[in-house]
This record gives sequence, C-alpha cells and structure tokens, in this order.
Amino acid sequence: MSLPAGYRIVDVPAEANREWLVTDGWAFPGDIDPDVAAEWPSSLDWTRTRGVRTDDDELVATHASFAYHALPVPGGRARTSGLTWVGVHPGHRRRGLLRAMIDDHFTRSLARGEVLSLLFAAEPAIYGRFGYGLAAHQLRVKVPRQAALRDVPGADRIRLRLETVDAERHGAAVAAVHGSLDRPGWTTRESQAQATAFLHDPPQHRGGAEQLRIALAERDGEPVGYALLRRKTDWQRGGPRGTVRVRELCAPDPAVARALWGLLVDLDLTSTVDVGCLAVDDPITHLLVDVRAAEADWQDNLWARLLDVPAALAARRYARDVDVVLEVRDTLLPANDGRWRLVGGPDRAQVAATDAPADLALDVRELGSAYLGGLSLAAMAAGGQVTELRSGTLGPAATAFGWPVAPVASFVW
Ligand SMILES: CC(C)(COP(=O)(O)OP(=O)(O)OC[C@H]1O[C@@H](n2cnc3c(N)ncnc32)[C@H](O)[C@@H]1OP(=O)(O)O)[C@@H](O)C(=O)NCCC(=O)NCCS
Repeated sequence: MSLPAGYRIVDVPAEANREWLVTDGWAFPGDIDPDVAAEWPSSLDWTRTRGVRTDDDELVATHASFAYHALPVPGGRARTSGLTWVGVHPGHRRRGLLRAMIDDHFTRSLARGEVLSLLFAAEPAIYGRFGYGLAAHQLRVKVPRQAALRDVPGADRIRLRLETVDAERHGAAVAAVHGSLDRPGWTTRESQAQATAFLHDPPQHRGGAEQLRIALAERDGEPVGYALLRRKTDWQRGGPRGTVRVRELCAPDPAVARALWGLLVDLDLTSTVDVGCLAVDDPITHLLVDVRAAEADWQDNLWARLLDVPAALAARRYARDVDVVLEVRDTLLPANDGRWRLVGGPDRAQVAATDAPADLALDVRELGSAYLGGLSLAAMAAGGQVTELRSGTLGPAATAFGWPVAPVASFVW
C-alpha cells in the first residue's frame, strides 16, 4: 500500500526521540512536556521504530514494534511482533497513513520471521479492517477493603515485603516472577529497555497517587510473586476512602495469590482495591467468599493478527485432536488466503495448503480471535462471523481451539 503523494516512510533513530515524542503528543494529547519525557528511559527498540515524514521533513506519524521472541500461545511459543506507538498527527489523518504503516509493519515483521502480531487498541473500531481480531479480554475488579477471602493452604508461609519500587533492586525479581507464568498472551518485557521503562515512575504518571510500591512475596527467601501498587488518598466527611491502585499483580500459585490479596484488602485509610488487566479467570474470582462484593467489568485486552497462517497455527497446540480444513479469507496478505488443513492435538500440529473441501470458512480476523484460546469459534459462528460448511465440524474445532486458561497480557505496552 503506497503513501499519498508528499509523504514517505522512514526509519526513526534514537536521536529523534524528542521529535517522536512531539508527534506522539499530537496523536495522544496530554500535558507531558516532550523535553521532560525525552529524559526518561525509553522502552523502544530503535531498530524497529518507523515514521512518516512530509516533503518538508516533518514527522507526522509513528509506529514501532516490540520483539516477543517466544510469546506464550496455547501449548507453545510463537515469534511475535507487538505493534505499538501508532499515531498520526490530526492534521494528516484519514489520508491512508495508518494503512501504509500497517503494510510496512506486516512486511518488516514477516521478513524477521514473526508469525503473529499483537496490539492493544486505543479504539476498538480501528484494527479489524487490518485482520486483527479481539483475542483476549481483561477483567477489572474493585474489591472492598476487608473483603472475605477463602483460605489457601501455605499462604501463611509467604513472607510479604512492602517497599518503594527501585528498578535496580527489584527489576530482577519482577522479571523472574513475571516470566515464570505460562498463560497465552502473557507478554514478558523481553528487552532491558522495556523492563527499565516499565518500572520508571515519574510523578507525571502517578495521577495524584503515591509513588510506585511493591508488595514482594517470598517463600523460603525466594521471590515468588508481587503486586505493584499505589495508594491514592481521599478524605471524605465519613472518613478516609483511599484507593489501592494495582498496576500489575503477578501470583503464579494459589498461596501467593491469597497472601498478596490478603495484604491488598487490608491497607489502612483505603476502602477499595482497584485492579485492571487481569485474566477473566484470575484467581480472585475464586478467592472471594462473596463474589458480589466486588465490582467487575471487562474490556478488550489483546488483538491478534496471524501474519503467517500455517506457521502460526503450527506454533500452538490444541485442546483435543482436530482434523479440519479452514477456508481463510485474507485480503491484505494473500499468502494466507486459501484453504488450510490443520491436523493437531495436545502434542502436535501440522498445517498444509489443501484443495480438499473446506469445513469452516472465516476471515483471518476471526482466526486471530480464536488463536490464543480465549474466544470460541462456535460463539463467533453464532454471531455470523464463522461459517460451518460441513455439518458437525464446528463443535470439535471450537473445543480444539479453546484452552484451559484464559489469555491476557498483564500490561499495556
Ligand atoms: C487511529 C489513527 C492512527 C488512524 O490514522 P489515519 O492515518 O487517519 O488512518 P487511515 O487514513 O490510514 O485510515 C485507514 C482506515 O481506518 C479507518 N480509521 C482510522 N482511524 C479510525 C478510528 N479511530 N475509528 C474507526 N476507523 C478508523 C479509516 O476510516 C480508514 O478506513 P477505510 O480504509 O475503510 O477508508 C489516527 O487517527 C490517530 O493517531 N489517532 C489518535 C491516536 C490513536 O488512536 N492511535 C492508535 C493507537 S492503538
């Protein structure tokens, strides 16, 4: 897809960071001074930063990606390109700049051998047209102080330390614990730049709350979980009504989850614990004695785009044996367009092009939605987005594409 006349796509080097931030400030209005933000550690990999310049050399659009070399997918790992920092100056919007940048992103990702692209969408209406399907939901819960929690054996053996976040002191433990979870979509901060930027805590990011704290859970002296949190004070006539805002909660086993939640619901001067970006099956849904005590809502988390359909389908495993022919429509990446026979199961997956009659027909977007195991092919068929061409094939395929744990990414990159 070519750009309109007067624009060209370019690499953006690290030296252009301030200019990058200025353009980003046009796309995402805020009150952060680019001169200040330019001093902060950048999460970006400057070999993967691209922009659009005008003939006058003004940078009017940006996009970048993160390399996720071994992103957890059901039963396996997939080389993934995490699209990010997508922005177009409002004075140049709706001229096809995003469309050209997506084309650029696909071409470069495929050339690097990345079979999947993931993103968080600022607005959900944007990315379906490019073959991204909603692939994971996230749960946000607001749990009242002193909410009763079920007992979990071993929780009393967990020692909790509450400290102010210090990237040097806590970075290794945060990375090790976060990386120990195996959940589809559970994106780890693979590069040092991303890990450092994630724990950077400038006052402009605090939204009136305190600096970032960590509740670090240890078992036998080893870090086994954590919550990154801030308390926000709110004094009302009836007394303190502070909120505990949890940025990331990482509890790889039930005793750790129980211990961390026990701390979170018992902080003085607060009345609510507010956590977003949880998987829809997060342990808190089972720890609460009274599920109605918590306020919960959910929204889209990851969007997934299969860049190389056969390679991506072969990179994951399937919840039951499956032998199905998929007729995939892909108008942007024609190599994916056609019929694919998938023969897979819990321990194997093979995918090959075929001329055999198709069992199911779907757009690559719906395949992306089903890919991480979080959205059901049968549910999408009920919504008219997947068509069963051969009777009796939808149910088994839907079960095979499902997975015992729901996908989620714990942070927006
Ligand atoms: C969203 C954004 C990147 C779109 O850039 P753009 O250059 O205007 O997009 P394009 O002109 O290439 O549009 C491509 C298509 O997407 C559609 N589209 C673009 N932005 C859209 C939006 N916010 N909602 C719905 N559709 C949108 C266009 O209408 C066009 O549709 P068409 O192909 O059917 O004609 C830009 O408006 C922007 O930077 N917005 C603010 C920041 C933001 O939301 N960034 C996305 C971060 S995930």
